[in-house]
Amino acid sequence: MRFAILASGNGSNFEAIVTAYEAGDLHGELALVFSDKPDAYVLHRAKEHKVPTKTFTVKEHGGKAGYEKALLQMLKDEQIDYLVLAGYMRILGEELIAAFPEGIVNIHPSLLPSFPGLHGIKDAFEYGVKITGVTVHFVDKGVDTGPIIAQEAVTIDENETLDSLEIKIHQVEHKLYPAVLKRLFAEAE
Ligand code: GAR
Repeated sequence: MRFAILASGNGSNFEAIVTAYEAGDLHGELALVFSDKPDAYVLHRAKEHKVPTKTFTVKEHGGKAGYEKALLQMLKDEQIDYLVLAGYMRILGEELIAAFPEGIVNIHPSLLPSFPGLHGIKDAFEYGVKITGVTVHFVDKGVDTGPIIAQEAVTIDENETLDSLEIKIHQVEHKLYPAVLKRLFAEAE
């Protein structure tokens, strides 16, 4: 079972996953990290861990359709079985989703279906909810929708700031995602 990680930004979740992988906690083979942002810090992190990287942009492929086609072809060429989205800030096309039935997972920094989208932590904080959290789910064609695999709640305390909440959410993500992948990959093999 070969899996790829798709990410657009910092890559702290990649770091948590690769740490578990290097410790021998995850089944399968981490084949590559792909980013739609050639300067994303996640690519630097991947190189540090000697994980192969791939990157190209929507613009390079003349729009979303060409980009999705190139991405699907690359994943086929690399014989990828499973996709792990870790801060990949694009909606996957239908053809790509159909190519990995039950084989694409995502992490989102809120208790879905509340606060989907690009700013899950900030949106929950600004709304004033007292409990938010982290969701790991299978991906379908919606924005942060699809069957929920695991959730963990995070309390928003009286003196919470957006910064302190972000730290708490990321700490939960970095434990929850590797633990869920450990279970899923063991079942997938
Ligand atoms: C994470 O908080 C992840 O849950 C979120 O992007 C961040 C990426 O951080 N994903 C979404 O909001 C998906 N809608 P990272 O690059 O440090 O792993």
